[in-house]
Amino acid sequence: MPSSFEFRRIGNLPPYVFAIINGLKIEARRAGRDVIDLGFGNPDIPSPDIAVQKLAEAATKPANHRYSLSRGLPKLREAIAGYYERTWGVQLDTELEITNTIGSKEGFSHLMWVLLDRGDAAIVPSPSYPIHIYGPLFAGADLRQVPMRSLANPAPEERTGFAEEFFDRLTTAYDIGWPKPRVLVISFPHNPTGAIVDLDFMQRVVDFCRERGMIVVHDFAYADMGFDGYQPPSILQAEGAKECAVELYSMTKSFSMAGWRSAFLLGNAEVVQALVKLKSYLDYGMFQPVQIAATVTINEASDFPAEVREIYQSRRDALIDGLDRIGWHIPKPGGSMFVWAPIPEAYAEMDSVEFCSHVVREADVALSPGSGFGPGGEGFARFALIENEKRIAQGIRNLKRGLPKLG
Ligand SMILES: Cc1ncc(COP(=O)(O)O)c(C=O)c1O
Repeated sequence: MPSSFEFRRIGNLPPYVFAIINGLKIEARRAGRDVIDLGFGNPDIPSPDIAVQKLAEAATKPANHRYSLSRGLPKLREAIAGYYERTWGVQLDTELEITNTIGSKEGFSHLMWVLLDRGDAAIVPSPSYPIHIYGPLFAGADLRQVPMRSLANPAPEERTGFAEEFFDRLTTAYDIGWPKPRVLVISFPHNPTGAIVDLDFMQRVVDFCRERGMIVVHDFAYADMGFDGYQPPSILQAEGAKECAVELYSMTKSFSMAGWRSAFLLGNAEVVQALVKLKSYLDYGMFQPVQIAATVTINEASDFPAEVREIYQSRRDALIDGLDRIGWHIPKPGGSMFVWAPIPEAYAEMDSVEFCSHVVREADVALSPGSGFGPGGEGFARFALIENEKRIAQGIRNLKRGLPKLG
């Protein structure tokens, strides 16, 4: 390896702060300690039985071992179109307005290559899921970050205030600076804050982007994870959405199929087809048995997301009620699979990495430091609801012991 060689595209990436906590977790486990892992958003709920059966069945057929279609089998695209029609009343052209992606993370990253080039700019909220920040940067674009209000979840009566503040900041981000941003990235229910919005909000986003000739990318990873009767809106429900909007829908959380890497880009036909073109150079699609299993799952296990949602909602309640009892008071998020917690007053001298390092060392609980989600995340820690209620209860006991200055 020549000593002068530089990895230019990745050389300037900041250290992945989640790796620090993960390292401490592994160290603790090696030392025989039982760490309650609420760090990564890696779902623990098994995938639907029908998905596993169909995968096994399809894998025995040699015809399914060949390269498949990058944009997804026609029946898979029909299945997700049917799901959108039943769930959100959105009609999609299966030839032009839908493509399969290898998880939404892959879809999002390559979509940024399609939409952005060197010198372009994108507006991204802060804090955000990390690839929303790094996807545009990898494509060579500049970022305009819009601070999200640090409220974990606006209650219905506060939601208008949240929207007003968001649009004020969005307008400022657009008006200030040159070149004008070409892309807006949003994602609701929001990771990490759990913030939720209504269809009026989505309509305003669509109007904002249409007026300015921008493309809006809505990462809908928590499409089916709305709590207490709330149903997250698809941006494609908004009037005129197909002129400027695309949405990523993933089976990762809704169907608890994280490892299967099955997701879709839906909406504006030109944007979808541009991604299809790029991906035809990059990949040969998902393993066909996975596509077949995903098709049958969407068609025949469409109640599964509701079961998953119930589980996360009960875990949310167990966690927030438990934290409340030990003196850490956090509003309940209306969606996602996360709880976004301000670092308690008594520990405010620590930054989020110091705080989460302290928690894993002293309480055997792994959390994600807020700063890993961008500068807007400092001062917070994120709990992922990926352990069962018994383990969450153990986590609360551990936190009471490891955070004696609480309450
Ligand atoms: C907002 C958001 N988008 C995308 C993903 C990744 O989804 P996928 O497994 O479909 O790549 C996650 C996972 O945590 C997420 O929180």
